[in-house]
Amino acid sequence: MARKMLVIDDDQTVLSSCRRIFESEGFDVVITPNPEEGLSLVLDTYFDVILTDWMMPELDGMDVVKRLDVTSPGSAVVMISGYPSIGRATEAMKRGAMDYVAKPFTPDEIIKTVEEAIKRKESEEISIVERFGRLAKAGQISFPTIDDKIIKSLSDAIDEKRHTEAKSSLDGLSEPERLHEIVLAVIEQYNRDTSSLIGMLQAVHSYAGYLSYETIGLIARELGLSEHEIFGTASFYKQFKFEKPGKHHIRICSGTACFVAGGSVLLETAQARLNIGPGQTTEDGIFSIERVACLGCCALAPAVTIDDEVYGKMNPAKLLRNIDKIYREEPKL
Ligand code: FES
Repeated sequence: MARKMLVIDDDQTVLSSCRRIFESEGFDVVITPNPEEGLSLVLDTYFDVILTDWMMPELDGMDVVKRLDVTSPGSAVVMISGYPSIGRATEAMKRGAMDYVAKPFTPDEIIKTVEEAIKRKESEEISIVERFGRLAKAGQISFPTIDDKIIKSLSDAIDEKRHTEAKSSLDGLSEPERLHEIVLAVIEQYNRDTSSLIGMLQAVHSYAGYLSYETIGLIARELGLSEHEIFGTASFYKQFKFEKPGKHHIRICSGTACFVAGGSVLLETAQARLNIGPGQTTEDGIFSIERVACLGCCALAPAVTIDDEVYGKMNPAKLLRNIDKIYREEPKL
């Protein structure tokens, strides 16, 4: 599978050069002149390499690196600078960048820098995994993950505890009760540490598919924070949804390639047919719509996914046919 690269730079020449150079190196390259758009793209797509400009009008590249270290820790980040200095380069490395390259660069220079950054990132990850593996084996450390496995093991642990205490199994609980137990278990898993709030929200979101007002309220009460603080933090990240997703979820890309190819008409078509906007769910709970920054398949623009199946070169008539087909196949109430 092709490696993915994201390039964030307000200089169109740099963007088009990087795209040309790295596409011929076999990368899937996504470019954006807007750092905030770049930071939101990484929430939906994993990039092996991220090149980011050092200085941009909207956001300092140093802050971009710092945020990428949290939201895309596995990516090899390389900074591009017109005026490199040892002090800033050191600071960038401390914040998570793997290397930097000075403008103007030749194709050979930037290719070599990127390859070295990837190797450095891989060896850094191997040594971290080995070190943590040794500590975990020695029982000196335990580290939570946020994927479905954590939810599964939490469910099992709660079930076991309930059995021990002669209470009914988690399986016997209603969905709200079950979610309540999961939320409490997640909070305990993170030792009630409010600095791990994002991890807790991700774990709960991964289980429930969204963060309801009730869930936010429960987390707030348990952590001694206000609901406003929790919502303020969660709403900063596009990955969190606050309304229960529909049984069938439509994601419509509004990234540059899809927008140019007519993505906005697709969004309007879906909205008109379903009578909901992005982030909303139909009253019957069957469909929800989400607008995304890039689905990672720009060559198929305009692209849409329905229940994780990708539909490229989409047009309004085809989209309506797919929606109507799902409606026809849904069991009637
Ligand atoms: S812009 Fe990349 S898939 Fe739409």
